[in-house]
Amino acid sequence: MAKRTIVAMPGDGIGKVVLNETIRVLDAAGFDAEYVNADIGWEFWCKEGNPLPERTLKLLKEHKIGLFGAITSKPKDAAAEELAPELQDKGLIYSSPIVGLRQHFGLDICMRPCKTYKGNPLNFIRRGAGDTIEEPEVDVVIFRQNTEGLYGGVEWSDPPDQVYEALMTHPKFLKNFGSTPREEISVSTRIFTKKYTERILRAAFEHAKQYGYKSVTVCEKPNVIRETSGMMYKMAKDIQKSDYPEIQLWNTNIDAQMMWLTKNPEDYGVIVAGNMFGDIVSDGFAGLIGGLGFACSAQFNPDSGIGVFEPTHGSAPKYADYDVSIVNPVAMIESACMMLDFINQQEIAAKIRKAVAEVIAEGKVRTYDMMKMSGRPDVIEKGAASTQQMADAIIERIK
Ligand code: NAI
Ligand code: MG
Repeated sequence: MAKRTIVAMPGDGIGKVVLNETIRVLDAAGFDAEYVNADIGWEFWCKEGNPLPERTLKLLKEHKIGLFGAITSKPKDAAAEELAPELQDKGLIYSSPIVGLRQHFGLDICMRPCKTYKGNPLNFIRRGAGDTIEEPEVDVVIFRQNTEGLYGGVEWSDPPDQVYEALMTHPKFLKNFGSTPREEISVSTRIFTKKYTERILRAAFEHAKQYGYKSVTVCEKPNVIRETSGMMYKMAKDIQKSDYPEIQLWNTNIDAQMMWLTKNPEDYGVIVAGNMFGDIVSDGFAGLIGGLGFACSAQFNPDSGIGVFEPTHGSAPKYADYDVSIVNPVAMIESACMMLDFINQQEIAAKIRKAVAEVIAEGKVRTYDMMKMSGRPDVIEKGAASTQQMADAIIERIK
């Protein structure tokens, strides 16, 4: 097979560290690829007024597959203050480059698996009947609609005339907000389309079928958010009935689901949700399998074959400048495994996953989070592994 070119987008903070370590692991596992570095993140916002430069979009369009570390995002006003002096007053408005990337390439399918690692000291445990302690085995895959909904970016403060007038035609707006001064109103929309709702639902059902999960749970709030959540649930019922009768369709509300997380997380298989609820519920499940240091993701567009693979954690700025990095690289490494699956390199992915599982199960090399320490530079002296040592241990196992 021809050598692959992978677009490496380290981004900010710990994104740079975990991506570096992950490439070392990929090399050790025999993945034959070259990596082209692509600019994304805070530095490019400050210097160029664009955190997602055109050249990065071009590289991804050309090579199709990207590994992404993490970026730092800040609210609009804070971002404006950090722009280079010559870019101030140009009316530039900051928005998150990873959200922008997802929308630019229509990476509408986001998959976030959360599976218990045997022997992980961070696994969720629960008190059972009598005095027993239970350690439920979680094996869930969250399918999050990745481009629409509340993160769609269609929003206003002090909405312009046409928007305001349109809102005023809605009886509930008129009744509840009609007397509020317009400049005191901020609106963020939650738009779902049939096309992309159907795509995420079908991806979820298809995954359940292919990997033998018995249920697909729609995790929304259709009783209250009747139009968008309601549409998703109704479509799920139709799709299940016509094409996946063998798979059970469950319906939970996002708030109740957060409670069920600690009651019966082992009962769930595939979960499907809109953008924001998918983001929330996937962090919730990530907590049960060890936290953000273990939470990986894939996002892709099935039509173009463009895919970007990233840990679900952010840039953790407070750990970014340590002389010796202490953060856990597993989430990024597992995200790279999802990339390998996507490009039909399952054997290499399996090799890496096995090595990660063995290192965790053995328990000799643990990053600070696995030792339940709070993150400080002295965790290394206290016996925690550095990011690099964790990657080394995985590489050692691969060999
Ligand atoms: P974060 O995920 O960066 O960090 C939250 C906490 O999780 C950390 O303080 C640390 O305790 C823990 N953590 C995260 N990654 C870890 C790892 N690999 N190993 C061990 N512990 C880890 O989220 P936070 O602090 O809310 O956001 C920091 C910045 O990241 C913000 O600017 C935010 O906008 C951005 N962000 C970017 C994301 C992305 O690039 N996709 C996603 C989430 C946040
Ligand atoms: Mg998130």
